[in-house]
Amino acid sequence: MWSRALSASCCWWSGCGSIGPKVTRRPRYVRGYSAPAVPAGRITALEAVEFWKRLFEERGVSEPDESSRYIVAHLLGAKTIESLEPRKLSTLLSREQTEQVWRLCARRLSRVPVQYVIEEWDFRDLTLKMKPPVFIPRPETEELVELVLADLQTRPGVGVEADARLTKCLEVGCGSGAISLSLLKSLPQLQAVALDQSQSAVDLTRENAFRLGLQDRLQIHHLDIMKDAEAVLSACGRVSAVVSNPPYLFSQDLTSLEPEIIRFEDRAALDGGEDGLIVIKQILTLAPQILLNHGRVYLEVDPRHPPLLRRWVEVNAEELQYVETRRDITGRSAVPRFCILQKEESNKSDKLDLE
Ligand SMILES: C[S@@+](CC[C@H](N)C(=O)[O-])C[C@H]1O[C@@H](n2cnc3c(N)ncnc32)[C@H](O)[C@@H]1O
Repeated sequence: MWSRALSASCCWWSGCGSIGPKVTRRPRYVRGYSAPAVPAGRITALEAVEFWKRLFEERGVSEPDESSRYIVAHLLGAKTIESLEPRKLSTLLSREQTEQVWRLCARRLSRVPVQYVIEEWDFRDLTLKMKPPVFIPRPETEELVELVLADLQTRPGVGVEADARLTKCLEVGCGSGAISLSLLKSLPQLQAVALDQSQSAVDLTRENAFRLGLQDRLQIHHLDIMKDAEAVLSACGRVSAVVSNPPYLFSQDLTSLEPEIIRFEDRAALDGGEDGLIVIKQILTLAPQILLNHGRVYLEVDPRHPPLLRRWVEVNAEELQYVETRRDITGRSAVPRFCILQKEESNKSDKLDLE
């Protein structure tokens, strides 16, 4: 099966894979985006793809080819142009289909991310509904899920081999539900608690959970980890893993993000404060009270964060041990991207907390 992928917008920044912030090298200017009129005569799907690809190129829309192909494929009921029969591509579009292509492509011309235009996107083996301004899941986060899955499956005591009661994870900042739903799909005995400060994100995670039939193993809460610490602790109880792709951009880097990101995605999903660590530090402060002994925190971070976090944990979170940094292999050059931390053995019995 053909799976969907974008390079620039999917990786947040056009220098995908390079060390540094998720930003563009130079400011992006949005050129005029008045849409052309729907053609009077009939055209084929391939002609529509070609027409819009050229227009996107001329107007400086990123990923012009992919954008045009995904939109036309979507309209024809497929994920990719490659998965369609060649005959279908050379058949004339109906008037209604042409108007729909023009309507969707006009949205892309105004820099709406293609994922919002077609209202869905793939994350690992899931197709998730997308709705602005909820954060669009990025490919590097698929790697975060892979590493959590591998770790949970191989660590006796807190992993999937353990007592079913113990196999529970908390996700902070669930967005569309990509991480939690992906973990639940891959681990049938896992239970998850997902929270987000955004009502739109909570609603979208719930909708995606129902669409995928995973709602019975997922509790979803509208909570802000910065303000509702007590409620977070009582909502999740003790868990084996805390997973998060939190807002981690340095505030000063936001100004140079692609227009697709800054204009359409929730700023609260991106902005991690001056050092990108506001939400991360709060997660790590609460983690010892949330985790079972030997339970782990898995974080996606900015490549500059791992050494800062290692030092911060040494000084501020004595119950946590910084285990390791993993690299992101999605980009051209692997960058430090994921941090794993573990709760040290404590004298208190976790069993008591479970009862
Ligand atoms: C980078 S997005 C990640 C979304 C999703 N987990 C993913 O990987 O696609 C960060 C998410 O954290 C949420 N968030 C930001 N600050 C938060 C806070 N203080 N408490 C809870 N969630 C927060 C945002 O609303 C956003 O949905």
